Amino acid sequence: MSAKNTFYITTPIYYVNDVPHIGHAYTTIAADVLARYRRLKGRDVFFLTGLDEHGQKVQQAAAKAGIAPQTHCDKLAPQFQELWTRLNISNDAFIRTTDGPHKSIVQRYLQELFDKDLIYKGSYTGWYCTFDERFWTEKDVENGLCPDCKRPVEQISEHNYFFRMGQYQDRLIDHIKAHDRFVRPEPRRNEVLGFLQTQKLGDLSISRPKSRLSWGIELPFDTHYVTYVWFDALVNYLSALEYKLPSPSVARYWPADLHLVGKDILTTHAVYWSTMLMALNLPLPQTIFAHGWWTVDGEKMSKSRGNVVDPNRMAAAYGVDPFRYFLLREVPFGQDGDFSEQGLARRINSDLANGIGNLLSRTLTMIERNCAGAIPDVPRDYLDGEDAQKKYPLLVQARESLRTLGDRLDALFDGFEFNTALLLVASRVSDADTFIDKHEPWKLAKDPLKQAELHAVLYSAAECLRILSLYLYPVMPGTAQKIAEQLGLSIDFSAPLLRNTVEWGGLQAGTKIRKGPPLFPRVEPKPEGAKPVSDSATPSQPTPAPSAETSAAAVPTPAPPAAPAQITIDEFMKVQLKTAKVLAAERVPKSEKLLKLRVSLGAEERQIVAGIGKKYEPESLVGKNIVIVANLKPAKLMGIESQGMVLAAGDSEVRGLITILEEVDPGTKVK
Ligand code: MSP
Repeated sequence: MSAKNTFYITTPIYYVNDVPHIGHAYTTIAADVLARYRRLKGRDVFFLTGLDEHGQKVQQAAAKAGIAPQTHCDKLAPQFQELWTRLNISNDAFIRTTDGPHKSIVQRYLQELFDKDLIYKGSYTGWYCTFDERFWTEKDVENGLCPDCKRPVEQISEHNYFFRMGQYQDRLIDHIKAHDRFVRPEPRRNEVLGFLQTQKLGDLSISRPKSRLSWGIELPFDTHYVTYVWFDALVNYLSALEYKLPSPSVARYWPADLHLVGKDILTTHAVYWSTMLMALNLPLPQTIFAHGWWTVDGEKMSKSRGNVVDPNRMAAAYGVDPFRYFLLREVPFGQDGDFSEQGLARRINSDLANGIGNLLSRTLTMIERNCAGAIPDVPRDYLDGEDAQKKYPLLVQARESLRTLGDRLDALFDGFEFNTALLLVASRVSDADTFIDKHEPWKLAKDPLKQAELHAVLYSAAECLRILSLYLYPVMPGTAQKIAEQLGLSIDFSAPLLRNTVEWGGLQAGTKIRKGPPLFPRVEPKPEGAKPVSDSATPSQPTPAPSAETSAAAVPTPAPPAAPAQITIDEFMKVQLKTAKVLAAERVPKSEKLLKLRVSLGAEERQIVAGIGKKYEPESLVGKNIVIVANLKPAKLMGIESQGMVLAAGDSEVRGLITILEEVDPGTKVK
């Protein structure tokens, strides 16, 4: 990363030949996350996105719709802009290549290169792919088909203007070798280098005769031609700096820190754009990062398959933040991934509802109940005092791990490792859950001598949430805002909140919390055609390990004894049955049968491991009022402690859980 304080980040400019899809949303969301992160770090960010409105694809789409190309562009542009608003994209500018100033700037650069004899007129015969708008050489073409889109190519011979790209081959190789962050990720860098080192780089045809394509920027030195769409499009990264900001800002922001692109358009960026910049005597961007592609339910996304994912629909159905989270959490950035609604629903339930959502809700419930709805006061030195480590080791650990979180996240964001960054944040959430569970605040609340400890635990949980909201903000800005609001804070997330190390203790005692609705209501995974999410990059549906759970003792669901012996009323009264509300449920890894439930008994919460996983999806149980044996001695099932047993009907197989018709308070006695 450069030492300058500016951070200029771009997305590709999208063709307006159709409405936006998940691929467009992916790059733009990733760019937004990085832009927000850098702003929090105090960088002067310029985040650019926009539309590529010239060229064959757009001309053809307009012709199909029977309207003029400009009318077509004007009709589609708002669909992109509205999507970005909906997805909470914080771009600083939106460029359209039909903007007047952009067209003039492209012409100025063309003239400059023409005057320097870096553009010349020549003739060319080659195989042309109309769809991809590019020529291929004889050896690229197989069976008369374009190697890229597999459509038929045609042989065309025409006069055109060429950019002397070939002469920059060695310089470009040297540049890539000397700058290991220039093309990323590493395998893509090797691909580009490999190509440059083994093939001769030719000159680039940068014009199209108007007879073949009229929808483009006219060459300033020959009105019979328009500019090749890529020459026009790539220039957007510079032209925007000249006219999209109140004052021209090329000197301020160029070279760009990061061009985010999909893997299919890496060559145009790493080779065409880099050599164009060399010819214009301008510095090259710091980094070009090529991300992978999404398939849908294992298939390539395409209109003809009818499986194009509409980001608007995903945001409406599942929420903007969960959708943003899913795209970055599910697949390592740079690799291909598979999108499925089941996968999205599972992530929402397992990571978000059971994770940060549950932590916020339980913390605030306990503060409401035990601290009159205000952040408790804790002796300032409670974590630093001499015996803090002895008294509150888990709190001290949680605080220490949050102290180092910032540095670790910096490294992960620098390395584009969004998924690991989110995993790390999730592990801090579960640290907080663990210290709450271990300290059992519901028990502390009943002991007047343990109030300081109770307050220490609840303060720490709330403070963890405050700090985690800062780190979650780039990926889930709306959620971060809600966490802050529910904690009773008004945080201005547009301020450089991560410029300095985040200090523990920012929450002020006495702040009135404002508990709101759950952050992430659980969603029912779509049953139809439901596939295990393990067909995506993250294996989250482990294959069952039957040997570990075949013993009857491992299945806490009671089965009636084969020959029921009679018991006395006194014997029965020893069994304490209580109502409980299921707060969260998840599968026990490597088990088909076992579910881990978190249930509320009103004054306390418990963890119960139940053998009902074949009958129920964990998500379907949340919110249900069930009956449990409350005084069963805790036991470990597959290494997980179970503090009770749920009642269910059924013999060797569970047929149905015992639930209650009326809404009764959790913890009510059952007799
Ligand atoms: N207009 C050019 C870019 C010019 S940049 C100076 C263009 N536009 S595009 O609309 O076809 O594609 C834009 C981006 O969407 C590319 O980065 C491409 O990789 C990305 N995606 C298109 N389909 C995709 C998926 N299925 N998955 C992920 N990204 C995908 O190319």
